[in-house]
Amino acid sequence: MRFIKLAFTFSVLLYVNTAFAQQKTIAAKVEALLNKMTLDEKVGQLNQYNGDWEATGPVTKDVGNKLDAVKQGKVGSVLNIMGTEHTRKFQQAAMQSRLKIPLLFGQDVIHGYSITFPIPLAEAASWDMPAMERSARVAATEAAAAGINWTFAPMVDIARDPRWGRVMEGAGEDPYLGSLIAGARVKGFQGKGLGNTDAVMACVKHFAAYGAAIGGRDYNSVDMSKRTLWQTYLPPFKAALDAGAATFMNAFNDLNGTPATGSSYLQRDILKGQWGFKGFVVSDWNSIGEMIPHGFVKDNYEAAEVAIKAGSDMDMESRAYINNLAKLVKDGRVPVTLVNDAVRRILTKKFEMGLFDDPYKFINPEREKATMNKPENIEAARDMGRKSIVLLKNEKQLLPLSKELKTIALIGPLSRERWYLKGAWSTDVDPNENVVTIEEGIHNQAPGAKILYAEGCKIKDSVATDFKEAVETAKKADVVIMAVGEDIFMTGEARSKANIHIPGVQEDLIKAVVATGKPVVVLLMAGRPMVFNWTAEHAPAIVYTWWLGSQMGNSVADVLFGNYNPAGKLPMTFPRSEGQIPIYYNFLNTGRPAQGDNDTFYRSSYIDAPNTPQYAFGYGLSYTTFSYTNISISKTAIKKTESLTVSFDLKNTGNTAGEDVAQLYIRDMVAQPLRPVKELKDFKKVMLAPGETKRITFTINKEKLQFYNDNLQLITQPGEFKLMIGAASNQIKLEKTFQLTN
Ligand code: GLC
Repeated sequence: MRFIKLAFTFSVLLYVNTAFAQQKTIAAKVEALLNKMTLDEKVGQLNQYNGDWEATGPVTKDVGNKLDAVKQGKVGSVLNIMGTEHTRKFQQAAMQSRLKIPLLFGQDVIHGYSITFPIPLAEAASWDMPAMERSARVAATEAAAAGINWTFAPMVDIARDPRWGRVMEGAGEDPYLGSLIAGARVKGFQGKGLGNTDAVMACVKHFAAYGAAIGGRDYNSVDMSKRTLWQTYLPPFKAALDAGAATFMNAFNDLNGTPATGSSYLQRDILKGQWGFKGFVVSDWNSIGEMIPHGFVKDNYEAAEVAIKAGSDMDMESRAYINNLAKLVKDGRVPVTLVNDAVRRILTKKFEMGLFDDPYKFINPEREKATMNKPENIEAARDMGRKSIVLLKNEKQLLPLSKELKTIALIGPLSRERWYLKGAWSTDVDPNENVVTIEEGIHNQAPGAKILYAEGCKIKDSVATDFKEAVETAKKADVVIMAVGEDIFMTGEARSKANIHIPGVQEDLIKAVVATGKPVVVLLMAGRPMVFNWTAEHAPAIVYTWWLGSQMGNSVADVLFGNYNPAGKLPMTFPRSEGQIPIYYNFLNTGRPAQGDNDTFYRSSYIDAPNTPQYAFGYGLSYTTFSYTNISISKTAIKKTESLTVSFDLKNTGNTAGEDVAQLYIRDMVAQPLRPVKELKDFKKVMLAPGETKRITFTINKEKLQFYNDNLQLITQPGEFKLMIGAASNQIKLEKTFQLTN
């Protein structure tokens, strides 16, 4: 035994030593290279150009040839250049530069590269960290095989406003869930570590608070207290950093009057200072140059000065750095030490990626071909899709459907759609023909059924066209499945909407079809929470499918026909109207909390609308049912140095195996400053056979009770706390209270 202990200790020391020695070696190599670089070559490393194909931002009027600029050592990284053929060409150009510093190839691999996985907001509905890590792992493996070293993901912006088009890209409204997901995605992208040929650098974005844009309007201003910033919007960034994220990306928005790109509070005080971040920060597309329209600087010369001083290390596409930074140094406006620090950070990542040892290590056509679209990875996408689906309603157990159905009517403009199913921020690497449509998915599960198709209307039809064909089709069927929702351009960047109802006349189409009296299953397909009050009330079965990527048709059909029992839970609140927004579950109680929809004076609510959402954060049904009973608590009082446990029985009371996500919410009953009526602090996703009971236990410690005070100190305050165990934020099943004594 002693020998084993000794051997283990030795191996740990050896590992730590090796890693430390490696880091030391890299630091020495960076220093040696830095000392050889001219000022222009240093500035070149801070410059990132877009490729000449797809642009993911407004294209800057260009001068000159980018390949020549690379050969002249004026470019440190390029983006939107995919595939070993194109990346090789650019890396070969870099090898012709004086110091042969390799390029970094960046790409928005947000939810898959060749195989498209569900949009991140959909994946968040799975509450399944291993599944989300695997999704990012597959994306990284395919992207790295295509010559990409760096993905501009995960996007970890907390979002409480479904009008914002980019809610599709994040993990929803909750800091606790969002932090776990941020960590899982970073680990998935970076795998066993930088330098492995199946790992890409993660890039945590958008730092910070981009999701709080006023009015849900993309790029709009953000104004919030620093306490709210720290309490709600920063935690997922810190979780991503703690998971080892290699890079960060700043944000377009101004925060409290300072553009994020020009905010040394964010990038230096918090990120590189308090949090000790050693990686580098890339600006968002032209965000440095956009400080001019922000009105924060008068020209690109000033923009470059402000940005480099604020801690923006690399300039994506504004050209402010390449055109001004050397002059700023020569003019004495910017100390060269700031440039050196930015260059060091970037070169360190290039060394860690192994690009100096072999600039072409990620550029291997044989590996590229062998890696894409592997069956096990396609199956992973299908599985992630199943897990992302949220069952919102299922009256009289209409679902799951029988595979022996004779006639199925499939109605709606998304029934046969392919490309849209990938959702925003997907690549077009794999032909869209490989996307499985809803119709194909249904056919795969019920090959004997006759599928009668009717489009019913177009997504954007503004006038109720003739629903006659759809109604007649519905009447001929045993069951109707409707595929309705948004199009791919209604969410994503620059896709905010003032009206988030199901677009066009699709809900009228639903009404017409439901009026036939046939059993109707409505599939709602979108990248955001939509408003659909009539459907919520009258349709017998509703399935929120989001956009699930390449395997969407199969994932949806797996749920519809019972191959998989849905267990998704909403990561965002679904409002009854745009007028309720912002609406989220972890709100403050106010001095006049709404007791119900009828009280007059005591209603922090509207006189013309309920105070509750259509569907709450954490809500989702199953084909079975669960009971929560027999709660117990290990102590009724603890000191902040102690912990307690709360346990309860979770039972599958139905006749189908299924998973439930048991959620733990906590309320600090009396606190200064105020604390929300509830906050998610833990959850467990549990599979139970019919009739099976499992005893679930959560541990409560200081980490779950602390919060930021007005001095931005993380504190706890003694007093009473309420523990709530629920199947959703508005379905609290069990409660207990305890005292924190100091
Ligand atoms: C875009 C997005 C950002 C993306 C970048 C590169 O404008 O804001 O998320 O990573 O540009 O495509």
